[in-house]
Amino acid sequence: MPEAWWRDAVIYQVYPRSFADGNGDGVGDLAGLRARLPYLAGLGVDALWLNPWYPSPMADGGYDVADYRDVAPEFGTLADAEAFVAEAHAAGLRIILDVVPNHASDRTAWFREALAAGPGSRERARFWFRPGRGDRGAEPPNDWRSIFGGPAWTRVPDGEWYLHLFAPEQPDFNWNSRDVVRDFHDVLRFWYDRGVDGVRIDSAALLVKDPDAEPDGLDPYTDRDGVHEIYRGWRKITDGYPGRMLVGEVWLPDQERFARYLRPDEMHTAFNFDFLNCAWEPHALRKVIETTLATHGPIGAPPTWVLANHDVVRPVTRYGRADTSFDLQDRRLGAHTDRALGVRRARAAALLALALPGSAYIYQGEELGLPEVEDLPDDLRQDPIWHRSGRTDPGRDGCRVPLPWSGDEPPFGFGGDPWLPQPAEWKALTVEAQDADPGSMLALYRTALALRRDHLGDGTLRWRPAPEDVLAFTRETGLTCVVNLGEGPFPLPDGEVLLSSGEPPDGELPPDTAVWLLESTATAFTGGGNA
Ligand code: GLC
Ligand code: CA
Repeated sequence: MPEAWWRDAVIYQVYPRSFADGNGDGVGDLAGLRARLPYLAGLGVDALWLNPWYPSPMADGGYDVADYRDVAPEFGTLADAEAFVAEAHAAGLRIILDVVPNHASDRTAWFREALAAGPGSRERARFWFRPGRGDRGAEPPNDWRSIFGGPAWTRVPDGEWYLHLFAPEQPDFNWNSRDVVRDFHDVLRFWYDRGVDGVRIDSAALLVKDPDAEPDGLDPYTDRDGVHEIYRGWRKITDGYPGRMLVGEVWLPDQERFARYLRPDEMHTAFNFDFLNCAWEPHALRKVIETTLATHGPIGAPPTWVLANHDVVRPVTRYGRADTSFDLQDRRLGAHTDRALGVRRARAAALLALALPGSAYIYQGEELGLPEVEDLPDDLRQDPIWHRSGRTDPGRDGCRVPLPWSGDEPPFGFGGDPWLPQPAEWKALTVEAQDADPGSMLALYRTALALRRDHLGDGTLRWRPAPEDVLAFTRETGLTCVVNLGEGPFPLPDGEVLLSSGEPPDGELPPDTAVWLLESTATAFTGGGNA
């Protein structure tokens, strides 16, 4: 594989708690994951991104890290993690780890030391401790709200308050502290030394903040200019380990600001959330694709194409709704879904995402067409969003339900009594059931990934003349992707259809369907621009 493997890699996201359970306690783990490596290699992906596997009280599904240099006992040991990395490499899979620099767990040694050391100490300066306002400091230092709901400050027994942009169990680091800067450099080296190929940077735009500043019209904690210095430091460390990469979780609506994170001395790539958020609508999709290519091209960064992750509503559910866009602030859970339509569109969306230039992400279960589970029993919900919203926003548990592997009833080969219950109808969606069905979502992903190796990847595209509600483009290899987002059939050019998201098309492409084809009269590829 080339050194800059991330430029066209397909990266499969593993949510370890819900992937496969090796010891039968109902929680996914490294033993389960290691046993399923042949499945992942067979699927045809190039790398795995693992959500946090560190020791954690799990106040936010592991994004409350108690020790950045170890593995949670429920997942295994550090030795298991090292064995896993070696086995993954032997299977041709690279490993990307999730690093969470915005906040720690309140159980981390540093936070406990900060509480013990008291106001004014160096230990407290690693976090954001402040006296309160008002009578006896009983009011929080400012009026910031937590992203999960409720105030962003919590008071400690000596009267000071600490900042947490997420749950109270997730105190924010203060990146003005040299201790914090140095410690994360050490964490990166720790994992690179153990063979890890890349790092996914959690909440990457939030690290720099100034709670003492007067409101200045800017967002007080998102995308402050100082954040880039942090990633320049990370890039220097990463460049010391050839073949390693950084991918940022940067939710920013402004593409110009987004692109700043991808300058040559910062991150290699970042998730394309504009594409993920986009409605199943031809103008909007075309605009996102064009803007993405236009912002990435000049800085030489490969775009990424993302349809799902552990924070968002599953595509087959989303695309079956009247409003097919995704909004982090309003998941619209419970909205009416036409499942058959959602599946049809999710299949077409997969062929679109995998045909575009750059790298692509697949969230576990996406390749099985799993729906969002919208009827989990309330008392089993674990997402802090559920509790912090006063049980009004069900949050993200519905896309985190353990995978169905085989058999006719739960736990569908997952193991134990799964920590979130699987719907009985997932019987039809198990890997085993889909293995036997050439028309399954799994078969579509496998075939697409195999074809992608020969025909698709890094580069550019040329738009083809097409009606407004059809997206058609040709890649360097001559492969043409046509997606019909209209209401009627679209006549296809003559040629060999390599893959269709629906029934094999007979000269015409039905609505909500995509094809990959090689035309009989090959049109020379001229790169860039519109036809
Ligand atoms: C990121 C993660 C999300 C987590 C949050 C706080 O957005 O993707 O799952 O809750 O950061 O760490
Ligand atoms: Ca387990």
